[in-house]
Amino acid sequence: MPEPFSLSAYLSEKRSAVEKALADIFREPGGPASRIREAMSYSLFAGGKRLRPILCIAAAEAVGGTQSQTMPAACALELIHTYSLIHDDLPGMDDDDLRRGLSTNHKVFGIGAAILAGDGLLTEAFRLLAGKGLSMPDSAPAFIRAMAIIAEAAGYLGMVGGQMADLDAEGKVVSLETLSFIHTHKTADLIAASVKAGAVLANADKPAFDSLGDYGINIGLAFQIRDDLLDVEGDANAMGKSTGSDNKRGKATYPALLGLDRSKEIQRNLVEKALKSIAAFDYRAQPLRAIAAYIIERKS
Ligand code: IPE
Ligand code: IPE
Ligand code: MG
Ligand code: MG
Ligand code: MG
Repeated sequence: MPEPFSLSAYLSEKRSAVEKALADIFREPGGPASRIREAMSYSLFAGGKRLRPILCIAAAEAVGGTQSQTMPAACALELIHTYSLIHDDLPGMDDDDLRRGLSTNHKVFGIGAAILAGDGLLTEAFRLLAGKGLSMPDSAPAFIRAMAIIAEAAGYLGMVGGQMADLDAEGKVVSLETLSFIHTHKTADLIAASVKAGAVLANADKPAFDSLGDYGINIGLAFQIRDDLLDVEGDANAMGKSTGSDNKRGKATYPALLGLDRSKEIQRNLVEKALKSIAAFDYRAQPLRAIAAYIIERKS
């Protein structure tokens, strides 16, 4: 009999593989870039769940792809995510002091260096993907498609646009439609792109790609609602970031607009929708199913 699936074992195995691949990217020695590399590495190797890379790999595996096929995209997604956290914490944005259990990047390196560290991580993500495409001509079209998906999700039509709307909404009461726009773009888009990039690199067919995209956007929105809930009810030590900061800044969040109970109900419904999207997938989608449930139960 096959062993029962353990999500925690799966997550820790994939996290180690991602950590190793990220360390390989940053292995080059010091030189003139050593100071910016130090600021970039500080946040990149401060911990983090590595959820986006893991989703990228899990989506590929769900349609018969492999971890090694997707690892460059998985790493690129984590570089982009880490940049977004560094910039999100800046004084002009959420002005937070704690991230991944450490002082925020700008507290340690200064605001200018933190802006540059974010810029450096974002750009490196695309250098990595383009470089892989160039070195593996047979896979180049898939890498270009993955790049297009990730760029759209990270840029002004996606995360950057969501972050702008998040800033614009500070201190205001917004409609549920606006709130859903903010959360979908600032967070769900990159999560959906992680799953879609994995699918593309594994040569998924169109129906599988679309189903995985639906799964990704639904768990992505649930992920940000959970993040809002943890800011109210979570344990700062477990999360490695401060709680109560949304309330302090008058952020547009699900608990602030709809209350805790209704927010929890919505996150459960989103996970149900996500699971339905991939209901026709076989046992290889087991990790994706378990991750969907984990997202709304997580404590960090
Ligand atoms: C935090 O993301 C920022 C949001 C989009 C809510 P994560 O909760 O994935 O942060 P890390 O990567 O584990 O630090
Ligand atoms: C962050 O949302 C979304 C990003 C794109 C980084 P939050 O501002 O709620 O994330 P945390 O709570 O600071 O991690
Ligand atoms: Mg923010
Ligand atoms: Mg923030
Ligand atoms: Mg938050």
